[in-house]
Amino acid sequence: MTPSTPPNPLREELEDDRLPPPCTMVIFGASGDLTARKLVPALYTLWKERWLPPAFAIVGVARRDESDDAFRARMREACTRFARARPVDTADWDAFAAALFYHAADFDDPRGYVSLAARLDRIERARGTGGDRIYYLSTAPAYFATIVERLAAAGLLDRDRHEPARRVIVEKPFGVDLESARALNTRLLACAREDQIYRIDHYLGKETVQNLLVFRLANGIFEPLWNARYVDHVQITSAEAIGIEGRGGYFDAAGIVRDMVQNHLFQVLCLTAMEPPASLDADDLRDEKVKVLRALRVPSEADLRDGVVRGQYTAGSVHGRPLPAYVEERGVAPDSATETYVALRLLIDNWRWAGVPFYLRAGKALPKKVTEVALVFKAPPPVLFSVRHRAAREPNVLAIRIQPDEGISLRFGAKVPGPSTEIHPVTMEFRYGSSFGREPPEAYERLLLDCMLGDGSLFTRGDEVEASWAWIGHLHRHWASGEAPPVAPYAAGSWGPTEADRMMERFGVRWRRP
Ligand code: BG6
Repeated sequence: MTPSTPPNPLREELEDDRLPPPCTMVIFGASGDLTARKLVPALYTLWKERWLPPAFAIVGVARRDESDDAFRARMREACTRFARARPVDTADWDAFAAALFYHAADFDDPRGYVSLAARLDRIERARGTGGDRIYYLSTAPAYFATIVERLAAAGLLDRDRHEPARRVIVEKPFGVDLESARALNTRLLACAREDQIYRIDHYLGKETVQNLLVFRLANGIFEPLWNARYVDHVQITSAEAIGIEGRGGYFDAAGIVRDMVQNHLFQVLCLTAMEPPASLDADDLRDEKVKVLRALRVPSEADLRDGVVRGQYTAGSVHGRPLPAYVEERGVAPDSATETYVALRLLIDNWRWAGVPFYLRAGKALPKKVTEVALVFKAPPPVLFSVRHRAAREPNVLAIRIQPDEGISLRFGAKVPGPSTEIHPVTMEFRYGSSFGREPPEAYERLLLDCMLGDGSLFTRGDEVEASWAWIGHLHRHWASGEAPPVAPYAAGSWGPTEADRMMERFGVRWRRP
C-alpha cells in the first residue's frame, strides 16, 4: 500500500533502520476495549505518519462473528475517537482499512488455529507481507498461555526458526504473583524463545520514561550526582484522579500494588536507579534493570510495619465531581479490603544507593493525575547560610514529570534581590511542549513499532517480571498474615491516608505536593 498522506517531517529524519519490514499483526481479543482504544488507533496513526512498512496487514481475532466490513466500520469509529492522527478522512481510512481483516475463532479450540493459518496465508499473499507475524495477546490473562500453545501446535509459532519472524506481545497482567508469573513464563517458553516474547508495559513506551535514561546518560552533569553521596532520597509518585472506572471486578482482585506498582512504578524505579548499561541493546538494558530489582532489600518486619501504608478511598469529590466510596463501586465486595492507595519505603542494597530510601506511592481518587520522579538532594554543609536562613535548608529537588505537563524542573535556593541575604527557593523548568512544540506519540505507537523492528528493549524480560513479583510477594504475604494494620481510609480527592504522611514524618521527610 502506498500511503497517500503528506510527507511527515519526523519521518524524513528517520534512520533507514527504523522502517520495519513487512508484517502481519494478529490481534487476539479484537472485540475488546484495548483493541479499539489503543491498538488500532496507534496502528492507524503509525500508518498515517508513514512509520509502517508499505506492506502490512492487521487481523483481528475474537470469538464473536463479525465480517471484515463490520470490523472495519467499528475500527473507523474507534480511530475517529482515539487516534492521535485525527480527523480520520474517508480517503485515508479506505486505504488503511484495506489492510484490516477479521477472523472469528474460539481461543481454546485448535480448529480455529487451523482456519487462522489458512486465512493468514491468503492475506499474506494478497498483501505481500512477507511472512513476518506478530501475535498480540489482548485477551483475558487466562488465555495467554493457551493461545501461545495452540499457535505453536498449529505450526504458527516456530521456536526453532528465526525467519520469518514470529513474535508474541503479551499484555498485562503477567501473573498475579511470583508463582503464576513463573508458571506463565514456563508455558510460554516451552513454545517460544525469550526473544520472541514481548511483555508489554505501556509506561516504557512513554517518551518521558525513555527520557529518564537520556537525561541521565546523555548529559555530563547529572550522572555524577546520581548516587548516595548526593541524593538524600527519591520519591516516585503516581497519582490518578479517577476511581476504578467500572473495572471493579478486575481491580478488587488486583489492588493498586498489582495494577500499578509491580509493573509501571517498578519499571520507573529501575530506570531511575539502574547502572549505565554496556549498550542500549535489549539484553544489556534489561540486565541492569534486573540487578536493581534483585538488590531491593528484603523487608524485615520492622520495614513492613514502618515503611508501608495501604489505603482505600471513601466517598469524596475530585475536581468538584463526586466520587462514591470504593466499596460502593460496581464489582467491588462491600467489605473489600483491597488497597486503592499504597506508600512504600524501599531500599536498594547496592554500591550506588546504599542508605538512600526510595519512597513510592500510587493511588486512585487523588486530587490530580500526576506521575513524577523526584530526587531530593542532601543539604550543603551547615555553615554560612543554613543557620540563619530557613529557606536555604529547603533541599534541591530535581523533578522529572512523566505526565501530564511533561518536563523537568530543578529547584534551588537563590538570593532575593535586596540589601539583606535572604534566600528563596526558585525553579528552573524544561517543558516538552514549549521546547519541542509537538505532541509526544502515544506509548503504544512506539511499542508496536519496536516490536515490528524486533527491538525488545522497551519490553520486560521474563526474569525481570519474576524479580519484581518476588519483592511484591513480601508485601502480599504480610497483608495476608493478619499482622498488618488494616487499610487506612482516605477521602476521594485527598492526597491519601494521613498514615502515609506520618510514615514520612517518622523518617524525617515529607511528600512532595506535585
Ligand atoms: C493501567 C492500569 O495499566 O495503567 C490502570 O491498569 C491505570 O488502572 C493506567 O489507570 C494508568 O496509565 P496512564 O498511562 O494513564 O498513566
